[in-house]
Amino acid sequence: MYLLYFFLIIVGVIILVLVIFGIPRKKSKRRPNIEGLDSPEVVNAFEKVASFLPFRFLRKKVVSEIRKLSPDGKLIDLGCGSGNLIVKIAQSFSHLDLFGMDISSEILNLAKMRAEKNGFSDKIEFKEGSVENLPFPGDHADFIVSTFSLHHWSNPEKAIQEIYRVLKKEGKALIFDFRRDARKFFYGLLTFATKVVVPKPLKGVNEPLGSIKSSYTLIELKEMLSKIDLHEVKVDPYLMFMIITIKK
Ligand SMILES: C[S@@+](CC[C@H](N)C(=O)[O-])C[C@H]1O[C@@H](n2cnc3c(N)ncnc32)[C@H](O)[C@@H]1O
Repeated sequence: MYLLYFFLIIVGVIILVLVIFGIPRKKSKRRPNIEGLDSPEVVNAFEKVASFLPFRFLRKKVVSEIRKLSPDGKLIDLGCGSGNLIVKIAQSFSHLDLFGMDISSEILNLAKMRAEKNGFSDKIEFKEGSVENLPFPGDHADFIVSTFSLHHWSNPEKAIQEIYRVLKKEGKALIFDFRRDARKFFYGLLTFATKVVVPKPLKGVNEPLGSIKSSYTLIELKEMLSKIDLHEVKVDPYLMFMIITIKK
């Protein structure tokens, strides 16, 4: 009997590994998707989803990646959304001067409220603006982080040049985003999340599935970065997302 259970478990594990790692998705064209975060319904729905376990896990991963690069001085979170990450950074690195920036005034209001609620309203400065035209002087930041915003940027090359301009010499940037060339399994997960799990306003804007469909593939991203004059840059691919590390 035990042998049968053992056999079934092994077969189950093999099937799972094959499904997760083995089935590629048909190549697809990038489909830019404007999330519409200015609508209060979408903002509130996004706020709910941001507290779900996978997003909390991702923020933990981001903080641990930041920690590996020993941040110091001024840190900016670009496309900071409702401020979940920048508040977590404030809790984890008390010595940093923090800035959150986003294009949406609606979502920045939530970020400000979150900072206040957690006792960081004096520690985090929020600015409204676009990554393609950053509201910061050159050589200003020691560290720039951005999570799941890149796929919204209308001119990512210009945005990365802007990030480079704003970084101080020896400053570092970490940019996290989905990868469109993720395996089919992850599209299945995000389709399920979009159709079943998330609140109605997010279903209406086809999120989070729309985000992965509007993200870049590893090859597209490397090609884009190769056109920009950067001192040091690398892309680390994970199963569903990629991390770009830039050092000035
Ligand atoms: C999917 S949300 C991610 C929010 C947050 N970084 C997170 O991980 O929870 C994408 C964010 O990027 C912002 N955004 C989109 N385009 C932008 C741009 N050009 N400049 C600055 N922020 C932008 C949106 O308003 C939104 O808050």
